[in-house]
Amino acid sequence: MFLNLNGYKSLLLLVAGAKGAIGSTLAAAVTQLKHHPDSVLPYLTTAGKFSGLFPQQAIDLAGWDMAELSMTSAITRHGVLPKTVWEPYQDEIDGITVFSSPGADLGRAAQVQHIMQDMASLKTLFPDALPVFINLLPACAAETPHMPETLAEIMDHPGASEFPDLSYALAAISSRIPVVNFTPNPLECPAIIQHAVKNGVCLAGCDGKTGQTYFKVVLASALKARNLQVDGWYSLNILGNADGKNLMDPERAAGKLANKTHLLDDILGYPVGEKYGTPSHKVHIDYYPPRGDAKEAWDVIDLIGLFGLPMSIRINLQGRDSILAAPMVLDLARWMAALSTSGRKGLIPELGFYFKKPMGDCPPITFQEQLNCLQSLENEYRCSLS
Ligand SMILES: NC(=O)c1ccc[n+]([C@@H]2O[C@H](COP(=O)([O-])OP(=O)(O)OC[C@H]3O[C@@H](n4cnc5c(N)ncnc54)[C@H](O)[C@@H]3O)[C@@H](O)[C@H]2O)c1
Repeated sequence: MFLNLNGYKSLLLLVAGAKGAIGSTLAAAVTQLKHHPDSVLPYLTTAGKFSGLFPQQAIDLAGWDMAELSMTSAITRHGVLPKTVWEPYQDEIDGITVFSSPGADLGRAAQVQHIMQDMASLKTLFPDALPVFINLLPACAAETPHMPETLAEIMDHPGASEFPDLSYALAAISSRIPVVNFTPNPLECPAIIQHAVKNGVCLAGCDGKTGQTYFKVVLASALKARNLQVDGWYSLNILGNADGKNLMDPERAAGKLANKTHLLDDILGYPVGEKYGTPSHKVHIDYYPPRGDAKEAWDVIDLIGLFGLPMSIRINLQGRDSILAAPMVLDLARWMAALSTSGRKGLIPELGFYFKKPMGDCPPITFQEQLNCLQSLENEYRCSLS
């Protein structure tokens, strides 16, 4: 029998936003893992890692959503997956437990209570599984006017309907369940971090780094290593999924745009565009329905080399948002399981590889630093086994 120190035999993803584009892709992926692991495992960055935990394909999913439709109807609606991936397992996928989200009209305390009860019943349903909470809720208006410092302030915080993420995170941490924040929503407020540390719970975020920004980190790190000066960087995204539509609201897009923008200056070590007196790193997101989840991104990068001579690079990424995101969520859940069993708690900045805005003290900035941190974390996990 393959058991870790705590006797867990599998991993259980508890997903808020389970019927969204990423959540429903994950539902198909965990089902495929049981039947055809080779269609999923080779695409994980954690494939083959964490021996001593539990079998790589032993992953279940449950969660919450406000949408009433079945999981396979959600898959059809998002149009991410071909039928061949999910239709043979339709009953299994529709059998996944997805609770209704707690009422938006409930106060914060009642929302937390409601979610904790759901979490307790899922623990009963999956007694041998190590649960990890994954936040896949829509981007909310980013600038919450005041980030709560204490639990009492969270409970009094009026935004239970605008910012339900806090209720889910609080319920998870109070239930001693690790938390992954894949959204740009600012969950990692002092009260949540302190509560996680006090409860011995790991917390990782924020804003999954799936496509354009991932390649930006790689390329910016390479340009820095060569001392090629970046004079300007223009990034455009078109996408036609629900996330893209939601991000047409400038307040909801603000957090994501900031996360996509700040990291370039941090990597390079200078403000791009300083000589123009205005930033020349520009990032735009545009909702373009024909593309659905098949997101496209363009980057135009202007460089300066020897003798101040200009050069430029063009990148055109034709990606698939949820196909890029879902394996990263599986990876993050596996990391959180491993780190939880090795005794880590609080924010895990070393997981910066996976996030646009890695949270915690001194997160790794360049691509090489991010890879090095992953290796150190893996070594830490291995040492904890011996
Ligand atoms: N796809 C990517 O590459 C990527 C990268 C980084 C971050 N993200 C973020 O991940 C999140 C999820 O993305 P998505 O494409 O799956 O979004 P989506 O809009 O398709 O899914 C969100 C789901 O959340 C549900 N929901 C809304 N309010 C809820 C509530 N209170 N409780 C429970 N469920 C609720 C919706 O019904 C929907 O099914 C977004 O915040 C997005 O910005 C995505």
